[in-house]
Amino acid sequence: MDLERFTVETRAVHAGRADLTALGVHVPPIDLSSTYPLPDVEAGGAAYEWMAGGGARQEGQSAVYQRLWNPTVARFEEALASLEGAQAAVAFSSGMAALSATLLSCVAAGRPHVVAVRPLYGGSDHLLATGLLGTRVTWTDAEGVGDAVAADTGLVLVETPANPTLDLVDLRALVARAGDVPVLVDNTFATPVLQRPLELGASMVLHSVTKFLAGHGDVLGGVVATSEELASRIRPVRAITGGNLHPLSAYLAHRGLQTLPVRVGAQQDSAQVVAHWLADHADVEQVYYPGLEGRDPEGLVGSQMSGPGAVLAFDLGSYERAAHVAGACGLITHAVSLGGVDSLIQHPAALTHRPVVGDAKPGAGLLRLSVGLESPEDVITDLQRALSR
Ligand SMILES: Cc1ncc(COP(=O)(O)O)c(C=O)c1O
Repeated sequence: MDLERFTVETRAVHAGRADLTALGVHVPPIDLSSTYPLPDVEAGGAAYEWMAGGGARQEGQSAVYQRLWNPTVARFEEALASLEGAQAAVAFSSGMAALSATLLSCVAAGRPHVVAVRPLYGGSDHLLATGLLGTRVTWTDAEGVGDAVAADTGLVLVETPANPTLDLVDLRALVARAGDVPVLVDNTFATPVLQRPLELGASMVLHSVTKFLAGHGDVLGGVVATSEELASRIRPVRAITGGNLHPLSAYLAHRGLQTLPVRVGAQQDSAQVVAHWLADHADVEQVYYPGLEGRDPEGLVGSQMSGPGAVLAFDLGSYERAAHVAGACGLITHAVSLGGVDSLIQHPAALTHRPVVGDAKPGAGLLRLSVGLESPEDVITDLQRALSR
């Protein structure tokens, strides 16, 4: 069945499951094998060579070893690639493992320079700032990308909406400024339900699978969706460094994809209600949410994104006030992470963006709120209570 002619909602339910009927099962089997039988030394060696070199496992080949290939992980990769409109996807044990492998593939290709558009998730910012993997970074805003590109630039990295301030970047314009350099878009906040960067000219899409894709707070994972050519450069790094997604996590993430459009839609509806309520609250100095007046000056919600998403941030003016409110929430869990079925609140400057230095560090009064599937009235009641205590 050619899934590509269907909507994202339909693909979310069916992608990565084409062979189930032939297998006589209704849900995907989980393959936990760490190693696989080899037909003979010659064929085993050839399969090893092929996959360690970056190839996707071919029909009839032994998978050889879980670090090279796993069918349950491959199902999730196929489904995510379908949702992002990519030829291939490569899954990892975390979003940071996915970013690390992508950066290492640039270093291995002799292009260690990275142009990074701030703000980024604090862990990504930290990884680039330390140069731990042999990369060299130039920080810029979206307009500065063209000037920042050098002869050895291997990647332009951008998040839109960005963590934690929900800043939006015009991806078509950014891709044009990047010229021949591949643009990697961290699409964790938008998900392929709201935004598909490859359709806008980007070369790679990264997700922390931990967030909306898996969606239930029980998976740590990452993935890069891209062309088969670029995927074949990233797979060998995964095979060598071993940041593979575990098959059980892949199964849960694949199941999570089935409800992704429904979850994102419902959470976004609630987030809009909560964002407007916060914007009208006397104690809130600023609300950062692309769905609010003035927060999307280029009109990207509606053109580049089909909706503003389910994450927002708000500024309470001081560290003391923000720390108090984060701790005073009851229904909303005070915890890092986002994109799950339950609402989470956290203080970026103290936690997710703690390693970020200088002007790039989020404000001391800022809180980030990921709105879950609770009713928005209950989320608001919880915030009201926390703000008034
Ligand atoms: C936008 C974004 N990208 C990447 C990551 C890293 O993902 P992980 O925590 O799965 O390693 C995060 C984590 O919060 C994130 O928010």
